Amino acid sequence: MIHYHKLGSVPIKQHVTHYEDGKLLMEQCMTRAGFESTYSILYYRVPPTDETAVEPMSLPGYAPIEATTQQLPYRRHLRTQDLKADGDFLTARRVLLFNDDVRVGICKTTKPAKSFFANWDGDECWFAYDQGGLLESVYGLLPFRKHDYVLIPKGTPYRIHPDGGAGTFLFFESNSHIDLPKQFRNESGQITMYAPYSHRDFRIPTELLRFNRGTHGEPPYPLVVKRGQELSVHLFKHFPWEIVGWDGYVHPVAFNIHDYQARTGTVHLPPTTHITFAGRGFIICSFVPRKVDYFDRDGVKAIPCPYGHASVDCDEILYYVDGNFTSRKGIESQSISLHPMGVPHGPHPGTYQKSVGTDRTSELAVMCDTFKSLRLTSVADGVEVKDYHYTWVKRENEAMETSK
Ligand SMILES: [Fe+2]
Repeated sequence: MIHYHKLGSVPIKQHVTHYEDGKLLMEQCMTRAGFESTYSILYYRVPPTDETAVEPMSLPGYAPIEATTQQLPYRRHLRTQDLKADGDFLTARRVLLFNDDVRVGICKTTKPAKSFFANWDGDECWFAYDQGGLLESVYGLLPFRKHDYVLIPKGTPYRIHPDGGAGTFLFFESNSHIDLPKQFRNESGQITMYAPYSHRDFRIPTELLRFNRGTHGEPPYPLVVKRGQELSVHLFKHFPWEIVGWDGYVHPVAFNIHDYQARTGTVHLPPTTHITFAGRGFIICSFVPRKVDYFDRDGVKAIPCPYGHASVDCDEILYYVDGNFTSRKGIESQSISLHPMGVPHGPHPGTYQKSVGTDRTSELAVMCDTFKSLRLTSVADGVEVKDYHYTWVKRENEAMETSK
């Protein structure tokens, strides 16, 4: 998804014979946008087509999604820290917000990964909130670290193993591809020197997946698939995800948010300055510890706190990870705020004035802007702080504080 890579054994040319121990291997092309865009070619020991059964299934809180009936456009605060951990990387997923382009949720695991999963609706982006682990996929093994983003291409059979089995993740499930914003690549596809990262910052699988009866079990081997927002389970007679090699541009990557090279201006820059990834109808931005805005002339200073705004064409989500969230009251680590399009918002009373003269922020957060309205699920309704919309109302003591 970021650059070309080759792992394991591939023949000298595409679409020619490739043998292992006298047996012809099966070439499988993973192509995007028909045959017009990026692709990878994988060489299978066992054809990934020997399914013995396909059955429907469901997972409460994940698929099918249950939307709440209460969808008024006001500022929301979801305390995801109150969500209970239960299940593995698949069964513990809880969707909180969704539209036609993206589903946003939290996954808190308690168990080792069991079934493989493939999202046939679009790419996924996971953010590891509290620890690292291992992404096991048909493209091989990709270790990830705390605060990594992990991008998983559409259609990839994979499992996520948090270290020790327990971990908390923010996830984005797109109905498209998730990639670097176009402006960060040159005409040859290389990441430009204006980008907030370089090719060196993206890690890829370095070791092929090897079948292990102890961790992969006995046949049939299940693959849970999401297609059209519905789930099905596909049973395979032989373990299908052990390959001898692959090459191409389509593969998972890991990127640590602390490798994001944040920008600072003389005056405050719009939040989308911190864009990191883009999907169809949404973007993902990274807020990392950094110096803040420094205009200072004749007693007139920059206000480093975000200015009040009402983005009339974007819903805005913030997932707070670490540091001091100076512009928000009541917000804690793992909180999600949703500020819908058109609804004015910005710093809470008192925090605007306090920011003048500060030179650093320690905030660590992931933002997502969507260009279609998000809907809340019943899971989100269960952890919502119901009076958050009204916490901008200035109280008497805050009025005094602001006048200092
Ligand atoms: Fe905003």
